[in-house]
Amino acid sequence: MPSFRYIILLALVPALGVTFLLGCNPAKIRRFTYPPDFKYIEHSAVESAMLKLARHVRSLDRILREPAPYSTDQQTQVVNILRAMEATAAELDPGGQRSNHPLIDRNIGAFRRDIELARRAAEHDPPNYFLAGTVSGACRSCHQEQP
Ligand code: HEC
Repeated sequence: MPSFRYIILLALVPALGVTFLLGCNPAKIRRFTYPPDFKYIEHSAVESAMLKLARHVRSLDRILREPAPYSTDQQTQVVNILRAMEATAAELDPGGQRSNHPLIDRNIGAFRRDIELARRAAEHDPPNYFLAGTVSGACRSCHQEQP
């Protein structure tokens, strides 16, 4: 009859071995500990995406504050920024899976649609920048209490 301590040791050795083999990389371990339909979004990924979005919103506001009449150059810039925002938002989208950020899961679809609509309106001839000018309002779906 093996002692209790022996059993614990037997259970622990493989666990430690797996941890060692994975190089103690938390992201790799997570791949095993979360179900396959779950997307783990690193905090650093959220942070860098958000800082990019904040920069984009500032550039948009700056361009849209330039005096009318709007130039083609301005239209290109607005459309490019909105495209960059669409790409940034797409990176965060768990694509129907659950993630570790329920707030993102709930709102990312609507957010992406808002940016897309703004981009389409800006692409019109003549362009309509109303939605581009209010795109920062779309941040509120996740950032309700911020101005
Ligand atoms: C789909 C949800 C969602 C949307 C939409 C969203 N955010 Fe965020 N944002 C988050 C989450 C989640 C965090 C991280 C909060 C935390 O971890 O404390 C965050 C954090 C931030 C931060 C802080 C980043 C840091 O350094 O920690 C900024 C700035 C930010 N968002 C700006 C924006 C701007 C600007 C927009 C709109 C263009 C926007 N966000 C839209 C979910 C969202």
